[in-house]
Amino acid sequence: MFKEECIPYAPSLIESMRSLGYSFQTAVADLIDNSISAEATKIKIISEPQNNPYLIIFDNGTGMTKEELYEAMRYGSTNPLEKRNDKDLGRFGLGLKSASLSQCRKLVVVSKKNGEISSFAWDLDYVVQTGQWLLKGFSAEEIDSFPYINLLSDVKSGTYIYLSEFDRIKAGTGNLSETFCKCLSEMTNHLSLVFHRFIEEGLNIEVNNAVIEPRDPFLLNNSATQRKKESCIYIDGQKIVLKPFILPHLSKISDKEMAKAGGRENLKTEQGFYIYRNKRLIIWGTWFRLERKDELNKLARVRVDIPNSLDYMWAIDIKKSTAALPDIIKKNMYNAVYESVVASEAVHTFRGRKEKTNNDIEYIWEKIKVRDGYRYLINRNIPQIKMLEETLDDKQIKMLDSIMNRFEESFPSAALYADYAKGNIEESKSDDSEKCEELWNDLQRQIDYVKNNNLDIINYYNMFLNVEPYCNYSEVQNKIKEEIEKYERSSKNI
Ligand SMILES: Nc1ncnc2c1ncn2[C@@H]1O[C@H](COP(=O)(O)OP(=O)(O)O)[C@@H](O)[C@H]1O
Ligand SMILES: [Mg+2]
Repeated sequence: MFKEECIPYAPSLIESMRSLGYSFQTAVADLIDNSISAEATKIKIISEPQNNPYLIIFDNGTGMTKEELYEAMRYGSTNPLEKRNDKDLGRFGLGLKSASLSQCRKLVVVSKKNGEISSFAWDLDYVVQTGQWLLKGFSAEEIDSFPYINLLSDVKSGTYIYLSEFDRIKAGTGNLSETFCKCLSEMTNHLSLVFHRFIEEGLNIEVNNAVIEPRDPFLLNNSATQRKKESCIYIDGQKIVLKPFILPHLSKISDKEMAKAGGRENLKTEQGFYIYRNKRLIIWGTWFRLERKDELNKLARVRVDIPNSLDYMWAIDIKKSTAALPDIIKKNMYNAVYESVVASEAVHTFRGRKEKTNNDIEYIWEKIKVRDGYRYLINRNIPQIKMLEETLDDKQIKMLDSIMNRFEESFPSAALYADYAKGNIEESKSDDSEKCEELWNDLQRQIDYVKNNNLDIINYYNMFLNVEPYCNYSEVQNKIKEEIEKYERSSKNI
């Protein structure tokens, strides 16, 4: 055997590394990750969306020495398999370079540490021109000419990043400054959500001197937000913490809060899991196909905290904007979903029932709030049970009660939920004439029982008028009303 080094051809590899799929906002978020990992408490984003726009990201983090900066500029500066500090938001040793150059052709980094200021740049045109992996370095005078570089003089340590030549955005628009403005506003929105927990804990991020407000997807400032019980899953000895929240009913959310939560429409589409890696939001608004996104649970959101020590378990991508979770984590998240969905439904149904005060429907299954959640119990006020209670002896009534208790205890909530989520539950059709006939015949048998036992027929018909499922079929309702009239007329005649 012999060996021969095969160095990648710089112009083509550096060009292809631009196409990892970053958007403007995910690229900037990746640079903010680096500032947070470097313990920055203040991050300033400065940009002038003019004809040749630039973007500066400045932080007051630990900064880098000349050697550290040189290493940081290297593609693949850190081995992704190396164990990282548990606060580190980095992953592949590519973000700084690939995120920046996915949007523009020139990345200048200036960093200050131990009183020393150093600077290097990747300039794609220079790499193409020389055909080599050549960084550009700058003298003190050259550094002094960079816009807003004086920000570094006010801090003990920190890093200044200057991005320019936004060729990708330029190529896709007829009006560069307008499109750039739009990018900046989407970026602000994105950062306010993705880093909301850092901002809430005191991190200051400014875009052109305007402070970014945190966008808390759980509306924890609203006292009507329900906090559900936290649960933990342990995977390989590492802890994943799940905390479900139920957002308040829409009527209890102010317009300002609604906008913060992503708007009325997003309340529905952005339900689901909110997955954080080291408090940084990675994926959100998905149930991973465990649940359908429908009206029922649009208020449920589950916060999931995963430490970076579990990176190897999930296929987190370089730009950290998508990640595939392993089945073992998803499976364990099921319980948290179940609880939050049931509770979310409660917010809706109770509202729905209250609104029906002039039309008191008796539901067969009643949802009853108990200490840790809800239980479904059989409503003992429905006419079928009343008529038995009126006619059976004590022993038989006890038997009936015990049967119902056993039914209630074994309500198959988990199986029902799973089938419902998969869309396997058959919905009963309303105003189906065959169904009406079946219900009517069934009702007649019960009225026969009422008659044979000399119970109050009109009273029972009235009860049936308001009980499920008879109340859902207009044809059955009309027939019941006719019967009531008939009995009322004949009782008057007597
Ligand atoms: N703003 C910054 N402040 C201090 N160090 C930084 C900063 N940005 C990048 N670095 C250093 O450069 C390294 C490479 O960054 P990056 O290419 O984003 O890869 P990763 O974040 O995956 O390590 C980081 O690990 C860090 O040591
Ligand atoms: Mg990084």
